[in-house]
Amino acid sequence: MGKIALVLHGGAWDIPPDLVEPHRTGMQKAIAAGWKVLQKGGSALDAVEASIVVMEDDDTFNAGRGSFINAGGEVELDASIMNGATFRAGAVAAVQNVRNPITLARRVMEKSENVLLVGMGASRFAREQKVKLCSQDDLLTLRELDRWRTMQSDPHFKPKDAFRKKRTASDTVGAVAIDKKGNIASGTSTGGTPNKLPGRVGDSPIIGAGTYADNGIGGVSTSGWGEAMIRVVMAKTVVDLMERHGGDPEKATQEGLKVLVRKVDGYGGVIALNARGEIGIAFNTPRMARAFMHTGLREAVALV
Ligand code: GLY
Repeated sequence: MGKIALVLHGGAWDIPPDLVEPHRTGMQKAIAAGWKVLQKGGSALDAVEASIVVMEDDDTFNAGRGSFINAGGEVELDASIMNGATFRAGAVAAVQNVRNPITLARRVMEKSENVLLVGMGASRFAREQKVKLCSQDDLLTLRELDRWRTMQSDPHFKPKDAFRKKRTASDTVGAVAIDKKGNIASGTSTGGTPNKLPGRVGDSPIIGAGTYADNGIGGVSTSGWGEAMIRVVMAKTVVDLMERHGGDPEKATQEGLKVLVRKVDGYGGVIALNARGEIGIAFNTPRMARAFMHTGLREAVALV
């Protein structure tokens, strides 16, 4: 059996002290869910989906319930997933009333001929696929309503500032896994940036920007200021850097961040895993919630 491994992120941003513990606990639950799948011989895709569903259901994170509210007062969600064995991918963007967008993204990959569905079309596909729907109220939290009200009175707020020090924004969850067959999968899910324009789509559902997987090299998921991530095609850039550096995920994530800063003055974090099950994590925000587990460890590591 090859080495199995799983790495997660739960947001790269200035996590305030009172939210550190909820993030750590949430990461522990999420890594336990994905690891259980891998340990039982399940697929990397199942593990990625299982971990991300846990984070989408936990309102600590900016994904699923607890997501940011857009300038129109609504929650619009983005997610993607990619199978490194087949290069198939599925994604949804600006979708409303879907409890677990990562599951819908997977259905797009497996039950349609398309890669990306948006808005009303994505919601219709969710109904056809019997993916769990919910009301806007089910996705809203008091914490985010308070943040949204505050932002309505701050005309100078820019989404990029949300990832810098002293701003209380959350960001995006993601997972990358390799299973016992050596198959690699990556996935990412988010509510986007706070007070975003209705219809705004970030990096998370863009294959190559937020998510990428290639069995021959590795997989990547990103977290951070999406506009910058899109401009440097961050996830694919890090996969390419891994290939250039003999598969080294640590070097690739660190160099990827340097590219992000040098070219577009970006902020965020990135997780990567290679075809040998080795893991790399890098971020340039004050904190990033992250967790990992592989066959060489006795227990999972969760850090904030
Ligand atoms: N990285 C999430 C977003 O910018 O939407």
